[in-house]
Amino acid sequence: MTDHTMRALVATEYGEPERLTVADLPVPRPGPGQIQVRIAAATVNPPDLHVISGAFGDVLSLPFPYVPGTEFAGTVTEAGAGVTAYRVGDEVFGSALPRPFAPILAHLPRPSLGTGALAEYTVCEADTPLIAHRPAGVPAEQAAALAIAGSTAQALLDVSELKPGETVLVIGATGSVGLTVLPLLAAAGVRIIATAAREAGATLLRRLGAHEIIGHDPAEYPAGADVVFNLVLGAERLPDAARAVRPGGRLVSIVYPEPTAEQVGRDDVRVHFVWDVAGEHGGMRRVADAAAAGELTAVIASRYPLTDAVRAVVDYARTHPLGKIVVTGAELPA
Ligand SMILES: NC(=O)c1ccc[n+]([C@@H]2O[C@H](COP(=O)([O-])OP(=O)(O)OC[C@H]3O[C@@H](n4cnc5c(N)ncnc54)[C@H](OP(=O)(O)O)[C@@H]3O)[C@@H](O)[C@H]2O)c1
Repeated sequence: MTDHTMRALVATEYGEPERLTVADLPVPRPGPGQIQVRIAAATVNPPDLHVISGAFGDVLSLPFPYVPGTEFAGTVTEAGAGVTAYRVGDEVFGSALPRPFAPILAHLPRPSLGTGALAEYTVCEADTPLIAHRPAGVPAEQAAALAIAGSTAQALLDVSELKPGETVLVIGATGSVGLTVLPLLAAAGVRIIATAAREAGATLLRRLGAHEIIGHDPAEYPAGADVVFNLVLGAERLPDAARAVRPGGRLVSIVYPEPTAEQVGRDDVRVHFVWDVAGEHGGMRRVADAAAAGELTAVIASRYPLTDAVRAVVDYARTHPLGKIVVTGAELPA
């Protein structure tokens, strides 16, 4: 590594996460409207695995070497021309999909894109609601872990318009979004039925406010839930989720792509898809405020230094972590 190179997690071809390496790459430099951030914490998310496997090949193709990683917290180390919101030394956090995702964000005037967060440095767009200052009271690893799960949890609450006393079934509750949304549901005064395959997950969900735990088998889903959050099932399993909704109730899904009416198979439930890549539900400023107020927290399963980032992604793929896997920044001179 020199002054001009950095360590980064790198895919050099499509394949399993075991084929990733930690390698030296040029430090990315910010263009107009962009900031360079020295990463303090970044996380691993499902799309990191999907894109390197080649599974999204029909919608986006990767240039190699490819640096994964979307959500992060860190320190601004350089600001490009025209950036007024951030200065060198500012603590920031947020979500910036790696640039090869641009085709699926083509509908947005200002998509939040970056050079990949699982690295010592990333460069991202400054003028987007998905990047914000990190409040002093929110640790970097919490901020990084809340960027996606926190904003998604807030959007889920917004669109579902819950009333106290309603029943909500959360499918995929043991995932990172589920673990962050559960306390919000508990605070909303609803009855929470949540899925967990193992006792450790069930215990954690009860601690976060779940009233009833069921297994992953759709046969265990209740009939007549006012709201069902689908946080994990793909299109082919949507009818299972829909069957649990009462007539006139709501099915809210976060699993890409947006469900079609045919996939859901019911015309007597309201179907919503949440994927707030435009920050329409308040973006990172709202996440920052809620995290600082103690209303949003992420469960951290384990931490790895950047030098061990391959193991972080492999463990994410091969084990069943309860909570976020955080990759922490390399030790660098201040
Ligand atoms: N639209 C958006 O804005 C948005 C935002 C974030 C995430 N997402 C998407 O939402 C999904 C979940 O994300 P995440 O980060 O929460 O994922 P995650 O942390 O990988 O969690 C998925 C959870 O679902 C559980 N699960 C697996 N199969 C299940 C089943 N049949 N029934 C119930 N639970 C099951 C898993 O449990 P085990 O580990 O025990 O199998 C795991 O705890 C992914 O597809 C992700 O891409 C979308």
